[in-house]
Amino acid sequence: MSLLKIARMGHPVLVQRAEAVPDPGAPEIRRLVADMIETMIDAPGIGLAAPQVHVPLRLFVFHLPRERTGEAAAPPAVVINPVLEFFAPEQVLRWEGCLSIPGLRAAVPRYERIRYAGVDCDGNPVGGEVGGLHANVVQHEYDHLDGILYTMRVTDFTTFGFTDELARAAESRAEAA
Ligand code: NI
Repeated sequence: MSLLKIARMGHPVLVQRAEAVPDPGAPEIRRLVADMIETMIDAPGIGLAAPQVHVPLRLFVFHLPRERTGEAAAPPAVVINPVLEFFAPEQVLRWEGCLSIPGLRAAVPRYERIRYAGVDCDGNPVGGEVGGLHANVVQHEYDHLDGILYTMRVTDFTTFGFTDELARAAESRAEAA
């Protein structure tokens, strides 16, 4: 396995629509998935979409570390040719960053619960009805497949800033409270 180079905001591959994966079990797809998981964990990040490593195909990897979720942790997994369904109108503001936009964060409106489906490299179905961080990551990564970055979904730009500055500001607010 090897680490892949991550495309940063401004690269055209990040704002184009990715193509369906014709053969999820192909050796080059399995290799790509393994390399993407290694790259995501090394970064470190909790999700990575193929366009972020200069491959305009509809697949992403993610994992949910126990310390980041109130729910069960989920080991690294791939979702190939995903479909996403929004069945509940409730949106919440989620803090997001992106490996393609290093050092920055913003609050982004996202659906609280979603359904998604796709396959893994063996053609097994993956997905389900999810909420919380799981739903958040899937919406963020799915957006990458349509050439959408989280910055395009920000509605309150006063929340957009450098991660360290935002953390300092939150700390000083907490101290003042
Ligand atoms: Ni991202």
